[in-house]
Amino acid sequence: MALIVVSNREPYAPRSRDDGGLDWVPSIGGLTAALDPALQHTGGTWIAWGEAHPDVREVQLPQDNPRYRLQRLRLSEAEVRDFYHGFSNRALWPMSHYFIERTRYDVVAWQTYVTVNRRFAEAAVAAYRNGDTIWVHDYQLALVPRMIREMLPDAPIGFFWHIPWPSTEVFRTLPWDRELLDGMLGADLIGMHTTDYVRYFQAACRRALDADTDEGVVHWQGRTSRVVARPIGIEVDVFEDLASRPDVEDEADRIRRTLQTLILLGVDRLDYTKGIPERLEAFDAYLDRHPDARGRITLIQIAVPSREQVDSYRQLRARVEGLVGRINGKHTHSGWSPIQYIYRGVSREELVAHYRAADVMLVTPLRDGLNLVAKEFTACSRDGALILSRFAGAADEMKEAVQVNPYSPGGLAEALQMALNMPLEEKKARLQRLRSRLHASDLRTWAEDFVKEIADQ
Ligand code: ADP
Ligand code: F6P
Repeated sequence: MALIVVSNREPYAPRSRDDGGLDWVPSIGGLTAALDPALQHTGGTWIAWGEAHPDVREVQLPQDNPRYRLQRLRLSEAEVRDFYHGFSNRALWPMSHYFIERTRYDVVAWQTYVTVNRRFAEAAVAAYRNGDTIWVHDYQLALVPRMIREMLPDAPIGFFWHIPWPSTEVFRTLPWDRELLDGMLGADLIGMHTTDYVRYFQAACRRALDADTDEGVVHWQGRTSRVVARPIGIEVDVFEDLASRPDVEDEADRIRRTLQTLILLGVDRLDYTKGIPERLEAFDAYLDRHPDARGRITLIQIAVPSREQVDSYRQLRARVEGLVGRINGKHTHSGWSPIQYIYRGVSREELVAHYRAADVMLVTPLRDGLNLVAKEFTACSRDGALILSRFAGAADEMKEAVQVNPYSPGGLAEALQMALNMPLEEKKARLQRLRSRLHASDLRTWAEDFVKEIADQ
């Protein structure tokens, strides 16, 4: 039995080397960070969009120790514009994150979404052999389960929705609400990160499709799909090993020595859902209110470029850069600047060194399906404090974090004050309780259990 993973984003992207060869570099984002180790473990096929070097149709990955086959689909420029930037990231993404005012519900984009979903479904069907399990991922491919089901009525099909599922009144703004639900209900098992998302999904099925639902199931057109909350985990061991490596520890020390201040840390894709401007403004307000903190605290914000073809993302980048400039211009003195802004993806080692160096981790999205950064920091921190938005799916499982409402003007600054003044013993106790739960829901267990659950339906 093999596993077939289907997702829009590929786990590694090809980059040209000077000698003409290709290096396959890990993609950044929650989905691929989670599924790559899982597929490395089980072996099988991953079907995804080949963005760079589209002529390379197939490759064994990871490059230095091949464990599975990546099959790459080539999308035309118009398909990328309408399916990926258009329907996925201008309609479904903002709608699911409650940003209705940013949605653009465009008919051509929707039609292209249907066409491209069909191409992914056909590729999965071509790769399928009796006994295999198919696992489709995320909002870019919500119609794929139904399309596969029509071609393979008996195949075990799972689907995971990695982002928030919004409340029904928000979901109903989508002109193709019925089609989307019907597409997902082609799966035997549908996973989401929290019980609230599952509840809202079932409510949408009742409201839009008039489908019957029971505890954890949806009945629709003679079939039953299970819907479960299965919050994703991280590879705890890998992060713990990295955190204890002497070179990573040296790098963490170097960061601290260079700055000579307390360190606040933010790590995000540059996305308007992540609350980065609100975080910067809260830090600015904190410095205004606590002049004694000037020269004693630095915020390191690491932001990786994302979806730059979409105007909302370009505008966000300009806004963040403007804020960094304004706040640094206002507070900088005698060689100290309040914000260090890193606009690129960093290596795992560099990332973990920053988690180790940080006194306070700021994970303050306005809305987030789960947020893996909160879990990664928890696994790696020396004895830091985690500030976590109540609107991140991870907040359900991470009650010991300092939870905040990122919309509250004073709330973030207050949480910052509390985290910075938290006694060492309390920080350690909170981290310990958070960590014990991380171990209980490790990524490998999450993926293996989900695949088993698909097959058991
Ligand atoms: P999302 O799925 O919306 O991108 P998550 O927090 O769930 O958000 O996952 C983001 C993943 O990307 C994490 O594994 C995190 O370590 C990684 N990441 C985010 N920003 C960077 C960065 N600047 N450099 C390297 N990795 C990053
Ligand atoms: O986890 C949510 C998600 O949208 C994934 O589907 C995606 O791979 C990741 O964030 C990064 O986004 P993108 O693939 O658009 O770069």
